[in-house]
Amino acid sequence: MTRLVVGVGGASGAVYAQRLLGVLAARGDVEAHVVFSKMGRVVWHDEIGTDPADLGFPLYASGDMAAAFASGSARFDGMVVVPCSGGGLGRIAHGLSTDLVGRAADVCLKERRPLLLVLRESPYSLVHCRNMVAATEAGATIIPASPSFYSRPGDLGAAVDTVVARVMDHLGLADHTLQPRWTGLQGGAA
Ligand SMILES: Cc1cc2nc3c(=O)[nH]c(=O)nc-3n(C[C@H](O)[C@H](O)[C@H](O)COP(=O)(O)O)c2cc1C
Repeated sequence: MTRLVVGVGGASGAVYAQRLLGVLAARGDVEAHVVFSKMGRVVWHDEIGTDPADLGFPLYASGDMAAAFASGSARFDGMVVVPCSGGGLGRIAHGLSTDLVGRAADVCLKERRPLLLVLRESPYSLVHCRNMVAATEAGATIIPASPSFYSRPGDLGAAVDTVVARVMDHLGLADHTLQPRWTGLQGGAA
């Protein structure tokens, strides 16, 4: 069983978290522990509207620093913050464990576990760019919440899946069919 922390930050794009959690739940071999930041709950309510308790995974309060994954001694395989705000990125890049999302991310970095940050902000300031560098140097992987179009996604859900597919790959759960794998240009390069 793969044990993951899924942090839901206060950036636009709650649908990425909703889809990821749906995909993880359908697998049956992943135990996801879910924590929303305070603004993560606000944005989820605005963009999705469902009760996060319906997700089917254990939910933790943003101030619950006694959660198991707030300690490096608990066995977890990694974490994704999806979506990750510019503010959340900055706090993670600078080790400010002011809420459980930040603390759990800090634990992943110190334990050298995979930490994926699905960053959503536009445009990026120099501060965001520097914080991306700092987080990457510390071991995090920045996955932009930017859909790709080479698989010709036909609707919003398919576009969302192009991002979730990359998240799954980097969580070591690459045995998914969320997006066709690139096999080269059909007919070769022009
Ligand atoms: C509806 C809504 C959408 C937001 N979208 C973004 C966003 O896309 N990116 C971002 O960096 N902040 C966004 N914010 C601001 C963050 O929620 C705010 O800076 C928050 O403190 C980020 O911290 P958190 O991710 O830990 O919740 C949004 C706020 C609201 C109310």
